[in-house]
Amino acid sequence: MQCLAVLATLLALTSAAAAVLEPRQTTACNNSPDLCSRSYSAITHLGAHNSPFLRDASTSFSTSGNHYFNSTIQLDAGVRMLTAQVHRSDRGWLLCHTSCDLMDAGLLSDWLGEVKIWMDNNPSDVVSLLLVNSDNATPGDLATEFTRSGITEYSYTPPSSTAPQITWPTLQDLISANTRLMTFVASLNPSQVDSTNAYLMDEFTFIFETAFDNTDPSNFTCTADRPSSLRGRTAEAVSSGRMPLQNHFLYDTQLFGIEAPDEANITSTNAPADRPGNMGDAAEACRREWAKPPVFILVDFFDQGPAIATVDRLNGVTNPIGRTPPPARDTMTSGAGSSRALPLGLVTLVNQVKNGANPNLGEWIWAAADWSKTLGGWDTSP
Ligand SMILES: *[C@@H]1O[C@H](CO)[C@@H](O)[C@H](O)[C@H]1NC(C)=O
Ligand SMILES: *[C@@H]1O[C@H](CO)[C@@H](O)[C@H](O)[C@H]1NC(C)=O
Ligand SMILES: *[C@@H]1O[C@H](CO)[C@@H](O)[C@H](O)[C@H]1NC(C)=O
Repeated sequence: MQCLAVLATLLALTSAAAAVLEPRQTTACNNSPDLCSRSYSAITHLGAHNSPFLRDASTSFSTSGNHYFNSTIQLDAGVRMLTAQVHRSDRGWLLCHTSCDLMDAGLLSDWLGEVKIWMDNNPSDVVSLLLVNSDNATPGDLATEFTRSGITEYSYTPPSSTAPQITWPTLQDLISANTRLMTFVASLNPSQVDSTNAYLMDEFTFIFETAFDNTDPSNFTCTADRPSSLRGRTAEAVSSGRMPLQNHFLYDTQLFGIEAPDEANITSTNAPADRPGNMGDAAEACRREWAKPPVFILVDFFDQGPAIATVDRLNGVTNPIGRTPPPARDTMTSGAGSSRALPLGLVTLVNQVKNGANPNLGEWIWAAADWSKTLGGWDTSP
């Protein structure tokens, strides 16, 4: 009897070992094996709105910042769309928040290089970029920056630059072809796109958006807002084949009517349910109205909510693989940032004036509004 028991134990151990050694059938695509066979446009991608604009020690906790953590940490945590604003300056094409005096997050090509390194290290992930083309860069201008960063080796090129794409490849198709980078630009003239830069997709040819300028939780709707030709014509926007993008972030109106990302209500805004203006109910409302889920949802402070919970629920992902949660957040009293620091935009302007420059009134208003939330003493070192 004892012998049999030992044998049974041995057999159990052997089959347990075999189960462990059995090779995994499939690796995860965007954090889940279940997503590999799904079309790019049949899943929901979490987007970090204004991804490079940070509210951390590096910006003296600027109230213009949209996130507590940089783009690399966003991607590590499961964000798969990054948006940014591209501005022309005498230093080249920069990422700036509204104005380069207010917040300058450095060269576009450097940021693209950061994303490329992440993609080098994460070969089973599809990443989307959405660039706001604030100073009308041509496709050629942008392509120069993409080429400089090296990221073009991952670029996906659509079959047509001028018509919405009805059938998008699956994540596995994109991963196998190593064309894992989707790049949308708002906006580009599709007729300026040529064979050397056809990976640059005019956003509103391929995507429609809900309104982005919301200041109250009651403002969120699923109504098409852009492209302007489809404003208010939601059913037509859906049937055009454009992918829906849901903007789900709030602005807080400050001094002089200037708007900044609303941090005070963020745990409600990014919540999966229950709270006023929560992201989960808003996404379900859009899924009902469009008869398909949002393909992209843009949020501020992506780690709050947590926003990824709503996206996992829409995608049916219950057991995500390979995410790294963000580290501890910078605090006002640590490192370069302190409660005595002025926002970067105002520091920049003060230094410009010290150097004899004469910034325009608009720049002062922006920076002053930014400053109006900062309490405590002043420290004008940048
Ligand atoms: C992103 O943030 C982390 C944590 O602060 C830091 O270690 C890393 O160097 C940053 N990456 C880039 C590219 O700035
Ligand atoms: C947003 O909601 C506020 C408060 O209800 C309202 O005053 C404002 O007009 C709304 N804005 C839009 C664009 O609907
Ligand atoms: C948003 O935050 C402000 C400031 O804390 C608060 O007065 C307001 O009631 C909040 N709104 C909602 C809908 O939670």
